Formats: sequence, structure tokens, C-alpha cells
Amino acid sequence: MALILEALVTTRQADGSAHLAPMGPQVEADATRFILRLFPTSQTYQNLRQHPEGVIHITDDALLLAQAAIGALRELPPLRTAERIRGFVLVDCCRYFEFVVRSWDCRGERHRLTAEVVHRGRGRDWFGFNRAKHAIVEAAILATRLHFLPHAEVAAEFAKLRVIVEKTGGPEEHAALELLETHLRQAEKQTAMKSAASPRLAAEERR
Ligand SMILES: Cc1cc2nc3c(=O)[nH]c(=O)nc-3n(C[C@H](O)[C@H](O)[C@H](O)COP(=O)(O)O)c2cc1C
Repeated sequence: MALILEALVTTRQADGSAHLAPMGPQVEADATRFILRLFPTSQTYQNLRQHPEGVIHITDDALLLAQAAIGALRELPPLRTAERIRGFVLVDCCRYFEFVVRSWDCRGERHRLTAEVVHRGRGRDWFGFNRAKHAIVEAAILATRLHFLPHAEVAAEFAKLRVIVEKTGGPEEHAALELLETHLRQAEKQTAMKSAASPRLAAEERR
């Protein structure tokens, strides 16, 4: 079974600018190709439909991952032009893989895109295993699923992840968790407002 790599993916938007989002492609041992499993509603998917090239990055920057997951990046981090494709490489990453999408499997909720690696490179060293960074990855994934997960369940998970971040994280991991917690609180407020305005509609949306 192929491993899933939690990564940051850059794609090119219709106006030629860069887009950044966390995605978890499947990767085979030699990393010559990735299988991206994308919700067609994502901007990354739409960008790849128009321009089927991008860059998958390995990073330990949990704060950047959290910001990108919930659309909280005020501006993109420094990028440089990719070498073999028309795309963008994050200057501050550990490894990167420039890819071209070779095939699309549009069955199922998530479409499977086979991405062939056409160039790869290395940046700085990877920090190493850190529980707080991994806790942020988990919290960020939950934060992107608030439209279908019960918020009380997510809040309970966040409470457990907070213990790990407090024990093992640095300032960036603390900032990332606070950002995600604020995002959760805002979502809770919006749901409460919708329930007050129209209880049936709010219940249907959560289903
Ligand atoms: C670590 C991580 C992995 C994710 N993996 C995927 C994925 O494989 N496919 C997907 O469609 N969304 C995935 N998401 C959710 C997207 O990042 C999220 O929906 C994001 O808002 C999409 O951004 P975009 O619409 O700007 O492309 C992941 C989120 C995180 C935090």
C-alpha cells in the first residue's frame, strides 16, 4: 500500500499567479509519481484542470501548513520559478517534486490524478520528528473538514492536540494551534447563528 505524504502543493492560477494548499498525495517508494486525490471543489483541482503542472513540497513548517489549509495566508511565502514546468517552488522547503498530471480518474468523491515527477530538488534540512508539528497537521486536517464533522468532536480532538503542542511545540506551533482554534470558534459561531435563523437548514447542512 502506498504511503500518504502530507505536503504543500503549488499550482498555477488562471491569471498566472501562484496558489498554495496542503494536500496528501499517495507516494510510491521511489517517488517517481504521486497520486493526488482531490476534491473537485478545491482551487488546486480547478487550477490543475486548466494547467496540469505543479510542485509538491516536503516541509516541516507546520504554521505555513495551517495557514494555507484555512486560507489564512495574507501573502504567499517566497517562491521561485520551477525548472521543468511552468510553476512555483517554495524557497523554504526541504524537498520538492515538480510534476505533470498524466491521467485523471474522475470516479468517486475525490478524483485521482496521476502526477509524474519530471524534476526534483532539495532545500534545507528537515527538522525531524516533533509531536507538536504532527499535532498541527492533524488539527489542520480537521479544520478543513468542519463542514461535515460535528464541531464538538473536533473541539474534543483539539483539546487533546493542545496538550501535545504545549508539551513539545515552539512558538510557531503554538501560533498555528491558536489560529486553528480561532477558525473552529468562528465556524461554531456561524453554525449557531444559522441554527438560530433556520434550525432545519443548519441541520441539513451538517448532514
Ligand atoms: C495535511 C492536509 C492534507 C490534505 N489533503 C487533501 C487532499 O489530499 N485532497 C483534498 O482535496 N484536500 C486535502 N486537504 C484539504 C485542503 O487543503 C483544503 O480543502 C484546502 O482548503 C484546499 O485549498 P484550495 O481550495 O485552495 O485548493 C488537506 C488538508 C491538510 C491540512
